[in-house]
Amino acid sequence: MSSLATATMGTLLCIVLLLCSTVIVYGQLTPSFYTRSCAQAVPIVKDAVRQAIAREKRMGGSLVRLHFHDCFVNGCDGSILLDDSTNITGEKKAIPNANSARGSEVIDHIKSQLEKVCSGVVSCADILTLAAHESVVQLGGPSWTVSLGRRDSRTAVQRDVTKNIPSPFSSLPDLISSFQAKGLSAQDMIALSGAHTIGQAKCSLFRTRIYNETNINAAFATSRKASCPSSSGSGDSNLSPLDEDTPDSFDNNYYKILRTQRGLLHSDQVLFNGGSADALVTTYSVNQSAFFQDFATAMVNMGNIMPLTGTNGEIRKNCRVPN
Ligand code: HEM
Ligand SMILES: *[C@@H]1O[C@H](CO)[C@@H](O)[C@H](O)[C@H]1NC(C)=O
Ligand SMILES: *[C@@H]1O[C@H](CO)[C@@H](O)[C@H](O)[C@H]1NC(C)=O
Ligand SMILES: *[C@@H]1O[C@H](CO)[C@@H](O)[C@H](O)[C@H]1NC(C)=O
Repeated sequence: MSSLATATMGTLLCIVLLLCSTVIVYGQLTPSFYTRSCAQAVPIVKDAVRQAIAREKRMGGSLVRLHFHDCFVNGCDGSILLDDSTNITGEKKAIPNANSARGSEVIDHIKSQLEKVCSGVVSCADILTLAAHESVVQLGGPSWTVSLGRRDSRTAVQRDVTKNIPSPFSSLPDLISSFQAKGLSAQDMIALSGAHTIGQAKCSLFRTRIYNETNINAAFATSRKASCPSSSGSGDSNLSPLDEDTPDSFDNNYYKILRTQRGLLHSDQVLFNGGSADALVTTYSVNQSAFFQDFATAMVNMGNIMPLTGTNGEIRKNCRVPN
């Protein structure tokens, strides 16, 4: 081969590699995304989440759930934060979110602080991701490396919520398939359900379980019935902790609760009911580090669901409205 041909091929190879690396950088999330453009981004989110949890412990759980509901509906794109408008019938009023998904005021507060120091740089989708991570850490759970660079959707679709968010009345096969539809494994699903070691649920979502199911601890059912009347009506919104023992600690107690038939939701107890999830529930109940490790991995997987990157989407100035 002539040296000219070799040089030409070398140049071509370099161009191809350059193009490829550009594509990779645009297509992927990275932990250092805001290092140059907004070094205060991560510390500002952390401080604000700490303050929010200091005011109300439950807010940690609410922020974790907000990230889950964002990611499962058309990817982690901040779509859950958009208010309804003339052009948008968004996700907030969909059944799984209405009077249920909490924490958007905390995200608004963080966004307004970030707009002051680096306007138009940090996406609402990344704020949700960072807030979920910091909530878990603050309540005693594991830490992991958070990749960033998600951009925000320009719209949201209400009916996509019920299509993608699993119902608390789901069977185990239904839960597995709704996570599989997002590229997440059964192990991811079982580990992520461990987020129910924090937070609360409304009576209307576990009434059938405490009054009509048989795979439930009798004393537990009795105590839950005291604040959840059998007929629908004024008690529908009464709250119970998902983990009655340690509702504000991110620990492996959720799995201990399942093994004693004290899962609050039907969708909790199906994870330990003689089926394929029993083995992992048992492992997590005796080995908190195994749970923490798998939970962290699963949170990274969930945070990678269909992000908008590069020039797709936008960086919203106000998380409630498209620019
Ligand atoms: C496996 C399928 C899941 C189902 C069926 C489910 C269902 C529910 C339901 C019905 C509630 C109570 C909502 C209310 O009463 O307003 C709830 C709360 C909660 N969920 Fe899930 N969830 C699932 C998975 C997840 C995942 C993957 C996460 C996060 C990684 C999560 C985090 C939470 C948290 C932290 C709360 C408490 C929120 C608060 O107190 O504001 N859940 N979930
Ligand atoms: C709705 O969409 C129209 C057409 O794209 C646009 O001109 C208008 O500003 C939008 N209204 C709102 C409230 O976003
Ligand atoms: C329990 O089951 C019975 C019989 O199917 C039904 O009539 C009743 O409404 C159920 N109660 C609750 C609280 O789900
Ligand atoms: C607990 O899980 C961790 C992580 O998977 C593992 O390295 C460790 O050996 C387990 N400990 C026990 C006692 O099984």
